[in-house]
Amino acid sequence: MTPETTSATCPVCELPLVFSIERQKTLTCSNGHRFDAAKQGYFNFLTGKGTNFLEDTAPMVQAREDFQAKGHYAPLAQRLAELINQHHHRDVLDILDAGAGTGYYLGEVLTATASTTHDALALDISRYAMRRAAKVPSTLAMVWDVWRRLPTADASRDVVLNCFAPHNPAEFRRVLRPNGLCLVVTGQPDHLHEVIEPLGMLSVAEGKQEILVEKFGGEQLEHMASENLSYTMKLDSVDLYNLAFMGPAGHHLSPQILRDKATSLGQQEVTASFGVHIFSPQA
Ligand SMILES: C[S@@+](CC[C@H](N)C(=O)[O-])C[C@H]1O[C@@H](n2cnc3c(N)ncnc32)[C@H](O)[C@@H]1O
Ligand SMILES: [Zn+2]
Repeated sequence: MTPETTSATCPVCELPLVFSIERQKTLTCSNGHRFDAAKQGYFNFLTGKGTNFLEDTAPMVQAREDFQAKGHYAPLAQRLAELINQHHHRDVLDILDAGAGTGYYLGEVLTATASTTHDALALDISRYAMRRAAKVPSTLAMVWDVWRRLPTADASRDVVLNCFAPHNPAEFRRVLRPNGLCLVVTGQPDHLHEVIEPLGMLSVAEGKQEILVEKFGGEQLEHMASENLSYTMKLDSVDLYNLAFMGPAGHHLSPQILRDKATSLGQQEVTASFGVHIFSPQA
C-alpha cells in the first residue's frame, strides 16, 4: 500500500510521519520509528517515556463526555467556530487542539467551520480522553504532553485551540502559520461559583488575563482581543455530578459522596463564565 502522508511529525526525530502497512493503524518516519494505533484508534507517543502528570481517568472522561453531550457548553463551542470563520478563509483548515480532552470543542468547530477539508491533531495526556477524540472525523488523536515539543511541523497549523488546558505558547507560536490563530479558553473567577463549594470542587479560575497576555507576548504571540462569555445553565443532579467529577477534583472525590451531594442540591442555576483569548503570531 502506498504510504499516506500526515501532518504529524515523529516525536523522536521530528521527521514527517506517514501511515504505512494498513491505513490508520501504523505511523512511521523515514528513520524507522514506528507507532501502532491502540485498538480504539489513538496513538500513544508517550510509551516508555513516563510522565509526572496525573491523567484524567476513564470515569472522569465519561463524566465530561456526558456533560458536554447535554450542550451546556455549546455556546462556547459556537463562539470558537465563529471566531475561526471570521479569521480563516481557506478551504483547508489545519487545526491542533492542545489538551483536547474528549475532542468536544474540536468536533464542534470542525462541523461548524466554513472550510471543506480538515486536518486535525488532538493532543492530550489522558489515554481515555484520546479514545474519544480519535472518533472525531479527520482527526489524529495522540497521547502527548503539551509541555514537550508538539508533534507537528513549524508553521503547519491555521488554528491552535487550547481550552482549559496547559499552555505552551512557545510551541503554539512555532506550529502556527504566520496568519494563524491561537484561541485560549480559561474559566473566569465567577465560573460555576454557585456550586464550587457545595460540591467540593476545585476552583477552575486561572491566572489573570494580563499574566496570560504577558506570557504569550513573550513568545511573539500578539494579543488581538479577549472576550467574556457568560450565561446561566440549568443543571440537574446528574449534570452537577458530572460537572464536579469531570474536573480536577474528580481525582479525589468519592463518587458516592458526590452523588449524595448532587442529589441534595437538586436543580440549580449555575453560571458559566469563560474568557476567550485571541492571539496571532507577530510578524
Ligand atoms: C479541564 S480538561 C479540558 C479538556 C478539553 N479541552 C475540554 O475543554 O473539554 C484539561 C485537559 O488537559 C489534559 N492535560 C493536563 N495536562 C496535560 C499535559 N501536560 N499535556 C496534555 N494534556 C494535558 C487533561 O488530561 C484534560 O483532558
Ligand atoms: Zn522518527
